[in-house]
Amino acid sequence: MKFDKPAGQNPVDRLLVVGHPHDRIDGKRKVTGTAPYAWEWHDEATKVAYGYIVTSAIAKGRITSLDTHNADNAPGVLAVVTAQNAGPLGKGEQNTATLLGGPEIEHYHQAIALVVAETFEQARAAASLVQVQYEQQAGEYDLAAAIPNATAPPEYEEDKTTGDFASAFAGAAITLDATYTTPDQSHMAMEPHASLAFWHGDQLTIRTSNQMIDWCRSDLAKTLKIPKEKIRVLSPWIGGGFGGKLFLRSDALLAAIGARMIQRPVKVMLPRPVIANNTTHRPATIQRIRLGTDIEGRICAISHKSYSGNLPGGTPEIAVQQSELLYAGAHRHTGLRLAKLDLPEGNAMRAPGETPGLMALEIAIDEIAEKAGLDPVEFRILNDTQVDPANPNRPFSRRQLVECLRTGADRFGWSKRNARPGQNKEGEWLTGMGMAAGFRNNLLTPSGARVHLELDGTLTVETDMTDIGTGSYTIIAQTAAEMLGLPLEKVNVHLGDSSFPISGGSGGQWGANTSTSGVYAACVKLREAIAKKLGFAPDDTEFTGEKVHCGERHARLTDALNNGRISAQDQIEFGDLDEQFQQSTFAGHFIEVAVHRMTGEIRVRRMLAVCAAGRILNPKTARSQVIGAMTMGLGAALMEELLVDTRQGYFVNHDMASYEIPVHADIPLQEVIFLDDTDPVSSPVKAKGVGELGLCGVSAAIANAIYNATGVRRRDYPITPDKLLCALPDRL
Ligand code: MOS
Repeated sequence: MKFDKPAGQNPVDRLLVVGHPHDRIDGKRKVTGTAPYAWEWHDEATKVAYGYIVTSAIAKGRITSLDTHNADNAPGVLAVVTAQNAGPLGKGEQNTATLLGGPEIEHYHQAIALVVAETFEQARAAASLVQVQYEQQAGEYDLAAAIPNATAPPEYEEDKTTGDFASAFAGAAITLDATYTTPDQSHMAMEPHASLAFWHGDQLTIRTSNQMIDWCRSDLAKTLKIPKEKIRVLSPWIGGGFGGKLFLRSDALLAAIGARMIQRPVKVMLPRPVIANNTTHRPATIQRIRLGTDIEGRICAISHKSYSGNLPGGTPEIAVQQSELLYAGAHRHTGLRLAKLDLPEGNAMRAPGETPGLMALEIAIDEIAEKAGLDPVEFRILNDTQVDPANPNRPFSRRQLVECLRTGADRFGWSKRNARPGQNKEGEWLTGMGMAAGFRNNLLTPSGARVHLELDGTLTVETDMTDIGTGSYTIIAQTAAEMLGLPLEKVNVHLGDSSFPISGGSGGQWGANTSTSGVYAACVKLREAIAKKLGFAPDDTEFTGEKVHCGERHARLTDALNNGRISAQDQIEFGDLDEQFQQSTFAGHFIEVAVHRMTGEIRVRRMLAVCAAGRILNPKTARSQVIGAMTMGLGAALMEELLVDTRQGYFVNHDMASYEIPVHADIPLQEVIFLDDTDPVSSPVKAKGVGELGLCGVSAAIANAIYNATGVRRRDYPITPDKLLCALPDRL
């Protein structure tokens, strides 16, 4: 199905099942431990051997000798895989560094061997016996130091300009020129990367934990240099991804090679302390923002330039994209610079681009609003735009930022905020409020599905879409139930299998909208097939209450079946509506904090997000996404930072003991409000994404609240107590 004009009325608009806060249909399996994660496929293969990875102890250089003799002869060892004996390997499209390194080393903790043994413990013990000598080379590990050598990346070869920023900024009545920094961050999904691989002849089956089945399969084929058709990838249950499982990673590749070598199934899990340096991370940024307004506070000049680093061939963090669309202003400039760094590979982490971009931009807006003497909510409303500021002929499909901000201010009690910072004392605590706008683009990608009306009247849905804890099973079941007039219990959803039609996958917050639209397309075809079987005119046929109606004629859904099930398959393909209309999602984030005036301890007390994110397919699962994202935003504001050892070139705090993320006690009252934002330009289900929006802007709102509480303005995340301490005594 081609989606190239705005959707009209369709069966989803009935909202009999869609739009309701159904519990997750996989919930029971999750809480009873019967939804197996990748490491837990115990009955899928027999005689499973275990692989343990050996990783590089240097960041850059060469292996001069790799002695596996002691490991080979250790108890239970079946094989030691290295780049020497693994056979010819290619590299996946989406991988920057090779997944099995040697003799060249591209980054710290790059995999250089896999020890395969009868038991996990034997493999781990033998892995410690692999002797490696290196010739270390000097590398670049310090983003700030690498800035002079940073160049424009291919994605942004030219800076984007509208009007004449330099003159407008020079002539502006009120200006701000400030630099903000965000650190490297790790996804830290609860479930570690893990894979079980087994071969039947030249056919490979991989049970893994991966957000994008088809990307994983394609890159595995490319790396192993075998046809894609020979590989089956399954990932029906995933314990969190956040972008860290978008790509083929070393666990899956090494399990496949190990299994081929010993002709037995092999399971590999990345140990927690290896994940931060072995897999991908969100790259640090240094962002310079310049803003100029007229005397009334109207933005006339806006410039955002962001620096990030990556391995050669890696991508930049596109931290400027929201600055091109969020506020009005005639004279504009955005640019990216990419520095070559020899740190582990930087890549997507939840709302890549906007997350660090808004961490900077939304502090800058708070700062200039204050300079202009305007309330930060009013400043944003004054500078709203309903069109793409660089191309006024291109409107937003829907844009309810102003409504998000007004509703949020009202519900949060914003009017009680004291605009003068550092004024509110509660005993030893300084309290304050802050807010920020949230913005995330609505990305669209083709998505397919297959549906079967079964002999017992149930419906089966098959798509390679994944559920990374997000609720995909549930919203897909809701969509299919709505389309066929079935109760939710009569729909069975099967996900995460490359033998099913290719979906959009779980990435870029497009998963919910695109995968349900693919299911919609397949269901439209199934409805036609059923109507035809019944001799009904497809266009005039309605499906409701497990019955089919066409004018005066009625039939049970099962009347369409005689000997076998009826099946249909289709995919949604998006036309150029995203060129005609800018499609984005919006939020207003409101925060109250208390800061201890002696220790600098920061407690977030209240969080509110008001979101406009298209039709909300399931308010319960959507809310869970948003409160999870808000929690992540709190972590980004106050805790998360991969500390770089700039001499040895690695992330030092690479486990969950020292990479801090919020725990329950850190999380206060969280409230989420969804505005009605049914968007017919986005897709036939009129939804957009929300899973990343909930993170975008939160951290800046917290930084702004800290400023309001203390009068201390920090532009460097995370905002830890030590960064406040030096300034706080003046506030006593
Ligand atoms: Mo998202 S960073 O595309 O999982």
